[in-house]
Amino acid sequence: MRLLVTGGAGFIGANFVHQTVRERPDVDVTVLDALTYAGDRTSLDGVAGSVRFVEGSITDADLVDGLVGESDAVVHFAAESHNDNSLDDPSPFVQTNVVGTFTLLEAVRRHGVRFHHISTDEVYGDLELDDPAKFTPDTPYNPSSPYSSTKAGSDLLVRAWARSFGVEATISNCSNNYGPYQHIEKFIPRQITNLVDGVRPRLYGAGLNVRDWIHVEDHNAAVWAILDGGRPGETYLIGADGETNNLDVVRTLLEIFGRDADDFDHVADRPGHDLRYAIDASRLRDELGWTPRYTDFRAGLEATVQWYRDNESWWRPHKAAVEAKYAATGQ
Ligand code: NAD
Ligand code: DAU
Repeated sequence: MRLLVTGGAGFIGANFVHQTVRERPDVDVTVLDALTYAGDRTSLDGVAGSVRFVEGSITDADLVDGLVGESDAVVHFAAESHNDNSLDDPSPFVQTNVVGTFTLLEAVRRHGVRFHHISTDEVYGDLELDDPAKFTPDTPYNPSSPYSSTKAGSDLLVRAWARSFGVEATISNCSNNYGPYQHIEKFIPRQITNLVDGVRPRLYGAGLNVRDWIHVEDHNAAVWAILDGGRPGETYLIGADGETNNLDVVRTLLEIFGRDADDFDHVADRPGHDLRYAIDASRLRDELGWTPRYTDFRAGLEATVQWYRDNESWWRPHKAAVEAKYAATGQ
């Protein structure tokens, strides 16, 4: 199988490429990535000999057409992915997430290529803390931020191209990932790298917001399950029953670092901050037989802490600039 992976130099995409090279020797991987601030070619160093890397944008229609024409399937990870950045400047989110996805859809339509679209649970908005409900594939779309609204827009394009043009497409909406190679602007790696530096973690607002954490390898195993057995036109929710509030995540990290449980700061809250996400992954589990392997969140966090300790050269060059940007918004 010739597989085109967009965004393969980013967090989840790079992990997907590593996992694919390791577990699927029959797959020829081509990565298309624009190497924005969030993309890092060195994340693919360990698999460089087994993967073709093309630097370019998913909004470049000619480039995309040529690469899609040489592929049997596309897995589309490329996106602007950070909510806080989308509040600062939504423009690249519309370009990459909406126009880029449209560009890919037109190419897969022309060439009759299988398409899997990677999306987020944030398209469904948020849930109350005391609501027993979880997101299901039937939950109405209700995105809150420029990031999540552009992801919602891209999902709707995929649904329309599947229905109107018969594009063989599937969509997955996953909850919050953690693990190696995650950009240090994101919550968990930001706090880990703060703690490595002896700096107090930063909690937005009261820290009661809940995220449904899943290890990135479990997410990517689910993506392969969908590529192997997913029904065209269908949406699969990916989550591992990992609901935890931000305060508890910070307290667990403080414990791992041997620091006092109250050794953190509350900082300015995110405008429009979604309260709680929770995934019902029944369809994925029942239809495709997927189950998560990383069910011990603390053990997964410990391994992730160790990865950031062992790979300081990967993140250190970005730390000062990320913190300077947060300082400007009081976060
Ligand atoms: P990331 O920001 O770490 O990586 C994004 C990658 O896309 C980078 O390598 C970047 O260079 C590339 N990219 C950006 N614009 C591009 C363009 N125009 N053309 C080509 N490449 C471009 O993101 P991530 O956290 O790995 O997320 C990957 C996907 O998974 C996204 O679609 C995101 O919406 C989705 N998702 C993420 C999470 C999460 O917790 N991180 C959860 C659910 C879904
Ligand atoms: O739910 C899936 C989504 O998860 C993905 O679609 C996004 O691409 C991904 O970035 C993530 O979005 P979040 O906004 O939930 O992730 P983030 O890591 O930015 O923040 C997680 C929680 O932690 C959120 O409630 C905000 C809070 N936070 C974040 C940072 C950076 C803090 O309390 N302090 C921080 O310093």
